[in-house]
Amino acid sequence: MQDKYSDYFKTNEETWDLKVPIHADSEFYEVENFKQGKTSLNPIELREMGEVSGKTLLHLQCHFGLDTMSWARQGAICTGIDLSSKGIEKATGINKELNLNVNFIQSNVYDVSKNVKGEFDIVFTSYGVVGWLPDLNLWAKVIAEKLVLGGVFYMVEFHPIMWMFDYTSGFPDLKYAYNQKEVIYEEYKGTYADSESSILSKEYGWNHGLGEVITALTGAGLHVEFLHEFDESPYDVFPDMVKNDKGLYVLKKEQRLHPLLYSIKATKKA
Ligand SMILES: C[S@@+](CC[C@H](N)C(=O)[O-])C[C@H]1O[C@@H](n2cnc3c(N)ncnc32)[C@H](O)[C@@H]1O
Repeated sequence: MQDKYSDYFKTNEETWDLKVPIHADSEFYEVENFKQGKTSLNPIELREMGEVSGKTLLHLQCHFGLDTMSWARQGAICTGIDLSSKGIEKATGINKELNLNVNFIQSNVYDVSKNVKGEFDIVFTSYGVVGWLPDLNLWAKVIAEKLVLGGVFYMVEFHPIMWMFDYTSGFPDLKYAYNQKEVIYEEYKGTYADSESSILSKEYGWNHGLGEVITALTGAGLHVEFLHEFDESPYDVFPDMVKNDKGLYVLKKEQRLHPLLYSIKATKKA
């Protein structure tokens, strides 16, 4: 696995390492407000995850840890993993400053079995995650292995239809397959959190449709409780979105033909 994809993972890690300091300084991530106590979590995941207090929680692809630390503030006992060493370094620094007691570990998702000890009540992952992973069957196996019996997996993610477009030219260009096995390479200036920054993002990704995600999870022995689709997003990360009266972003009326997000809750049954 790692050998076959190691060049792709290396490029992605380098790009995410470059993004971390820019994101940590960006208005998008509001780190100062976070430090003052503002949660980085959105109403969707707060509502759908329910009570986490006292539960052990593993956050996959935690970036620089704000969401992981937000769950810790809600009383969860948290571990966050990410491919980017700069992300884990930044997360560890903020965690120490705020005394939040989260365990941050640098790891590829596919190396979690060897890098993370124990099992968890909850495995959580969100917003911009599965597209970095070439093999969802292995991803689901890692999730199932890390859950206790009765444990819950929850994800909220951008809808696969969103990834059928190439946004690098400024105008959404329908270019990629709903399920695209071949790797997608994109190179563009800036990041979703700061389009003006001078970094050159070089990224390899894979498109996974909802059927593939659900089948991977059920194939790993998880029982899917729900799959929800949403027409509104807390993030203004695609071109031409407008804010609605709930403060959420939607596509402009004439483009409003498909969902923006989906969420899944699944449990590990005996
Ligand atoms: C879009 S971010 C997740 C966003 C997160 N919800 C946030 O805003 O804080 C995607 C994260 O996935 C991580 N990542 C990419 N490929 C990975 C892999 N194979 N294993 C672990 N982490 C990975 C990146 O380093 C990055 O931090």
